[in-house]
Amino acid sequence: MSTPASSSRIAGFHKLPIADRVEAVARFAGLEPGECAHLLDTGNLPAELADHLIENVVGTMNIPVGIATNMRIDGEDRLIPMATEESSVVAAVCNAARQCYDAGGFTTSMSGTLMIAQIQLTGVGDPQLARLRILERKAEVQASCDACDPVLLQLGGGFRDLEVRVLETRGGTMVITHIVVDTRDAMGANAVNTMAEKLAPQIAGWTGGRTNLRILSNLADRRLARARCVWPLAAIGGEAVRDGMLSAYHFADADPYRAATHNKGIMNGISAVVLATGNDTRAVEAGAHAYAARNGRYASLTHWEVTAEGDLAGSIELPMAVGLVGGATKLHPTAKIALKVLGVRSAEALARTIAAVGLAQNFSAMKALATTGIQKGHMALHAQNIAMMAGALGEEIERVARVLVAKGTVRIDVAEAELKALRAG
Ligand code: MEV
Repeated sequence: MSTPASSSRIAGFHKLPIADRVEAVARFAGLEPGECAHLLDTGNLPAELADHLIENVVGTMNIPVGIATNMRIDGEDRLIPMATEESSVVAAVCNAARQCYDAGGFTTSMSGTLMIAQIQLTGVGDPQLARLRILERKAEVQASCDACDPVLLQLGGGFRDLEVRVLETRGGTMVITHIVVDTRDAMGANAVNTMAEKLAPQIAGWTGGRTNLRILSNLADRRLARARCVWPLAAIGGEAVRDGMLSAYHFADADPYRAATHNKGIMNGISAVVLATGNDTRAVEAGAHAYAARNGRYASLTHWEVTAEGDLAGSIELPMAVGLVGGATKLHPTAKIALKVLGVRSAEALARTIAAVGLAQNFSAMKALATTGIQKGHMALHAQNIAMMAGALGEEIERVARVLVAKGTVRIDVAEAELKALRAG
């Protein structure tokens, strides 16, 4: 008996060619031929490549890539490719960067390119002794880790440090080993996970315990990217604007409800560059939010203060586990071009650039919020321009703009259709 079209049990789905998978999904979901054709049009990502990047591929999802202009980072001008579906995100970076360009732009730095992998050990009766037994084997741990990746070693990376923590948990005492590895231009997940998996049986042997998880930590706090910038008072519009922005920062730093939104805005910029360069947005986001809560209370990822001259100084510091090799960075054709546009030659330079984008994004969000507000400042104004471009006159402009904002589609074709409907009564 063949499987009914309403069943999600589709045997061998992963082995089917893409077109057959689409057909199976179409049967299940009642997709029209046009919708199937849409899925099968994978645009500028070859279907074959998509099929190798993930499992069970039936299509691709296009996201606009915009370029943020005006960025000056460590004395160099850079164009920043950003992949995002959200309006105002690219414009926000352009605006913030324009207002600090003449003053020198952004200065960045990085703590290093070290990743941590964790090995969980349970069932040891003498956890403190076990901890020391593991630490005493540092040379063996180093040899075991470095043997996993000779290429990384040649590139100057490899094992750097060993840390062992005794952790009290609901499930009893655990001994957690951290291997700290310099992964250079790779994000490093594969490298450190391989090392951790190889090391686990040795740790179990040295201690008599049972190893369980062996996986990297996304709280990449040995891979901190930093950026700072001073916005001259005159460029931002005077003391009232500056003080409103500072107050917005103080609010975010004191209140997790606000900090979540404040940091979401920062991640609007950061994730857009991470995605455009084919890096792992979820890894960077997890690291950022965990770092924001590192002192026991979720707080702002940025810091803002007034300089002796009365200007507004902003800074950001957060984990930035991104790479130039591995994953989609070297495979996705758009990511490869994005990296060429960025012109960064190391994972460190990429991470530092991304931190600067996060700071710029935060500047613009706080400025808009502390002055005209996000909706009024961006959407309503933009919608009115589009309404006028569509030919709206007098009070038609406001009426068409309101509909565009309500629909969330501020587009000339929609504005023209709305205007036509309005005039038809
Ligand atoms: C919207 O995507 C981002 C903001 O909410 C950020 C913020 O509130 O700081 C505008």
